[in-house]
Amino acid sequence: MAGCGLCFSLLLAAAFARQAQALWPWPQYIQTSDSHYAIFPYNFQFQYHVSSAAQPGCSVLDEAFQRYRDLLFGSSSWQPPEPTRKQHTPEKNSLVILVVLPGCDQLPSLESVENYTLVINDDHCFLLSETVWGALRGLETFSQLIWRSPEGTFFINKTEIEDFPRFSHRGLLLDTSRHYLPLTSILDTLDVMAYNKFNVFHWHLVDDSSFPYESFTFPELTRKGSYNPVTHVYTAQDVKEVIEYARLRGIRVLAEFDTPGHTLSWGPGFPGLLTPCYSGSRPSGTFGPVNPILNTTYEFMSTFFLEVSSVFPDFYLHLGGDEVDFTCWRSNPDIQAFMKTKGFGNDFKQLESFYIQTLLNIVSAYGKGYVVWQEVFDNKVKVPPDTIIQVWREEVPVNYLKELELITRAGLRALLSAPWYLNHITYGPDWRDLYVVEPLEFEGGAQQKALVIGGEACMWGEYVDSTNLVPRLWPRAAAVAERLWSNKSVTNLDLAFKRLTRFRCELLRRGVQAQPLNIGYCEQEFEQTA
Ligand SMILES: *[C@@H]1O[C@H](CO)[C@@H](O)[C@H](O)[C@H]1NC(C)=O
Ligand SMILES: *[C@@H]1O[C@H](CO)[C@@H](O)[C@H](O)[C@H]1NC(C)=O
Ligand SMILES: *[C@@H]1O[C@H](CO)[C@@H](O)[C@H](O)[C@H]1NC(C)=O
Ligand SMILES: *[C@@H]1O[C@H](CO)[C@@H](O)[C@H](O)[C@H]1NC(C)=O
Repeated sequence: MAGCGLCFSLLLAAAFARQAQALWPWPQYIQTSDSHYAIFPYNFQFQYHVSSAAQPGCSVLDEAFQRYRDLLFGSSSWQPPEPTRKQHTPEKNSLVILVVLPGCDQLPSLESVENYTLVINDDHCFLLSETVWGALRGLETFSQLIWRSPEGTFFINKTEIEDFPRFSHRGLLLDTSRHYLPLTSILDTLDVMAYNKFNVFHWHLVDDSSFPYESFTFPELTRKGSYNPVTHVYTAQDVKEVIEYARLRGIRVLAEFDTPGHTLSWGPGFPGLLTPCYSGSRPSGTFGPVNPILNTTYEFMSTFFLEVSSVFPDFYLHLGGDEVDFTCWRSNPDIQAFMKTKGFGNDFKQLESFYIQTLLNIVSAYGKGYVVWQEVFDNKVKVPPDTIIQVWREEVPVNYLKELELITRAGLRALLSAPWYLNHITYGPDWRDLYVVEPLEFEGGAQQKALVIGGEACMWGEYVDSTNLVPRLWPRAAAVAERLWSNKSVTNLDLAFKRLTRFRCELLRRGVQAQPLNIGYCEQEFEQTA
């Protein structure tokens, strides 16, 4: 299909002239037509091709088949159609899946290939992919292609799709420290992420407010740092469940343990870890960031991150490094003395660098890669060349596009989040502001742009808990999902609005309480109340 750019655009225009589909995010190449095939749930099946590397017993796909069967047809049993109706339209009774490489038991990674080809025509109803992760993306697309006539028959149109993501890191951040999110909220979010082809769950586990991660080497951290050590914690079992649930949906879990700032909740469980702040010549009784001048701090970090490195199997950990407040460090006479012996003068950024560099050495010794917030780069910490920098500040010290330019010019990889803070809300269709962002709109050559590996939508938890998480996330996060998956040229807001409106209705049909985009109604809602 490559080399058919023009005929493709014409077909695309034609498809939209008829009716905007619910496909979200929009695929790279698609051809559809009015020809369609009936699908009867009573005999329809997902089937492994004989030469597929994945075969029955492949957990990732076996479970996906079950999920999509339930999503599409409900779990109730279906009767064969009346013979008269069956004769009219050609029928498809299976989707045949061919996966080239084995890998059902593996974890998705930053390098995972997610390409797939989906062909539904007179001869085929076929999904081809190199990996099981690509097959998952293709199954989602397949599920979005199926429609139902007013009489209740399922159909799928003649379609050819060749699809792959524009960016390989497409993440969503949830903050489980400001408010605890029950396990079910996290698992439900992973489901909707998969509908949107998101592939990274950035789990901002702990912060100043609470420490819900249950550490087995330092149980006091959770006991004294969580909102409630019985009800508001993530046990080892919970964490395992999240990782496996995500894996089955082709989603990586990127765990963040943010230091040296944002750590107040760590203090009670490990006395001596945080810096005592001074008022004049006496400790004021309050505490600041992690104390960077004590050997015990680094011994603690070595032990703690050894645990974290084994609990979270993804190659990458997120080490935070944002918003370190120097006021407390500055007030502390021991820290002042340490600064003098190190020759840091009055430059607390150097002290911060000293801490971060030591931490990075600890974590890389465990064979992990890392992501850090942009301050680590801004404050000129010497980082290994494979560090990933996450850009979150919109205008300071520079505009976020300029920041991407600087990071990639330094040869480092970058993730964009600055324009995608979903916790910021405004009246009206604010999904548009998220949608119109173009991550590569900065000065630099192709090599530099290739260093932007993707981005993340962030849902910080100050004003969000399980009561309002879902409607605040969806469908707004979907705007970010399409920007990170679809071709750069997919920018038409009117078409996006039509498709997103339908996608939102499909989310409602799937049981997701996604908020409305504008005045109107969903047919599904109408059906339910009728
Ligand atoms: C699918 O086919 C139906 C019936 O022929 C047609 O109304 C609809 O516009 C088609 N959809 C697409 C996306 O081609
Ligand atoms: C996936 O698609 C991209 C974009 O067309 C292409 O560069 C890459 O080679 C494809 N990978 C595989 C394994 O097909
Ligand atoms: C901290 O560790 C360094 C390096 O191992 C050592 O030189 C120093 O004496 C230690 N300081 C204390 C107070 O133990
Ligand atoms: C994808 O975007 C590029 C650059 O904007 C454009 O040249 C290409 O034609 C687009 N491909 C499709 C299939 O629209």
